[in-house]
Amino acid sequence: MHISVVGLSHRTAPVEIRERLSIPEQTMETSLQSLRGNEQVLEASILSTCNRLEIYTLVRNPDLGVSAVSDFLSSHSGLETGELTPHLFSYHHEDAVDHLMRVAAGLDSLVLGEGQILSQVKKMMRLGQEHKSLGPILNRLLTQAVTTGKRVRSETNLGTGAVSISSAAVELAQLKLGQSRGLDQLVTLESEQIAVVGAGRMSRLLLQHLQAKGASGVVLLNRTVERAEQLSADFPDLPVQCRPLSDLDQYLSTCSLMFTSTAADEPIIDAARLAPLNRRSKLRLIDIGVPRNIAADAADMDGVESHDVDDLQEVVARNQEARQAMAREAEQLLQQEAQQFLEWWDSLEAVPTINQLRSSMESIRTEELQKALSRMGPDFSARERKVVEALSKGIINKILHTPVTQLRAPQTRQDRQQALRIVERLFDLDPS
Ligand SMILES: NC(=O)c1ccc[n+]([C@@H]2O[C@H](COP(=O)([O-])OP(=O)(O)OC[C@H]3O[C@@H](n4cnc5c(N)ncnc54)[C@H](OP(=O)(O)O)[C@@H]3O)[C@@H](O)[C@H]2O)c1
Repeated sequence: MHISVVGLSHRTAPVEIRERLSIPEQTMETSLQSLRGNEQVLEASILSTCNRLEIYTLVRNPDLGVSAVSDFLSSHSGLETGELTPHLFSYHHEDAVDHLMRVAAGLDSLVLGEGQILSQVKKMMRLGQEHKSLGPILNRLLTQAVTTGKRVRSETNLGTGAVSISSAAVELAQLKLGQSRGLDQLVTLESEQIAVVGAGRMSRLLLQHLQAKGASGVVLLNRTVERAEQLSADFPDLPVQCRPLSDLDQYLSTCSLMFTSTAADEPIIDAARLAPLNRRSKLRLIDIGVPRNIAADAADMDGVESHDVDDLQEVVARNQEARQAMAREAEQLLQQEAQQFLEWWDSLEAVPTINQLRSSMESIRTEELQKALSRMGPDFSARERKVVEALSKGIINKILHTPVTQLRAPQTRQDRQQALRIVERLFDLDPS
């Protein structure tokens, strides 16, 4: 059995490819069932976020497993294998384990150390458990990844700073505004007419950062106005005007800065929508939705500057050096956690051989015991029989104790495999 991960992320694929592969929660069960339907796949789990789609599996054979998952991704996205493959990565065994630990810690995130990824890893575990696609191995791996993510946040400096895609989006707005004034620096948003579209988790973070960066007020547009009102109630010091999404054109006409972060699966703003609007000043659009909320053609409109989640690289690169130093602090902790999982997983490899060894010893014991008891004849009392039986069991247990403990003990994979093969040869076992 092998642990594998196949996927793509902001490092390997642009947003136009990533959005084709995103798997919303509503279709997660069908996707997991489809993966589990393949005879290669014993356990499966899917991590789908705006910046990555990763499929963790326990497979019989690594090559066949990877091709089963690649076929699934191709049919799910409608992309030909040739189009998809250049964007895919795959890792096996310890590399797959290390990768998941890094992901959960936020070390593979666009914004290094951001916190949302940990809740997304928890969600992947919850959905895998609910839809029964996890078994003991991936369950243990995901639990260890969540522990790693929590430890990195509580025990290293990487967890401080409240960074997220939303904070990077607000910084991008500040940077672009500064650049439009000929300054290469972040400027206050105080004089901007700001709208946020969507009232979910990312919009909450947008409001937090907008408030911190000096926004004097925000129009919050959402499909469900009540949800926007609930969100705005948590920001008593920020004037927030809640409007239905049907008012979008009005605010596209009057705002200078609009953030979009809805979970809509089709763009809600495009060139055709912007064209008839009678705008007098520049409109800056920043879209953190994946799939994108703003179509690529919006950027072609005069007076419109449009950015998607991939454009956040520009601000992220500015902060990366300081955060890289913090990331190095977390690396050691990641290695400990990955090692702990691998030792547990490797020790499982010894189980079939140990079971066979025990059952082989047990059949010798019972056979020899029967022979001895029949030689003793009827004069042997039931009590004496029990003593002899207990003696035979005790001898076997004592003899097996040390080799079994040695086979289970933490050691390199190579050493364990060597020890297992020797035991199998000496006792003529065939655990396969
Ligand atoms: N969570 C993250 O860490 C993260 C990071 C970066 C980017 N993103 C992206 O940001 C977007 C929002 O994520 P989230 O975590 O904030 O989601 P969320 O908490 O589930 O909120 C979803 C929001 O989208 C709205 N919405 C859903 N379907 C819609 C539709 N068809 N038309 C218009 N509005 C719709 C919802 O409106 P109602 O209230 O009316 O349902 C709600 O305001 C997603 O595209 C996600 O990929 C998320």
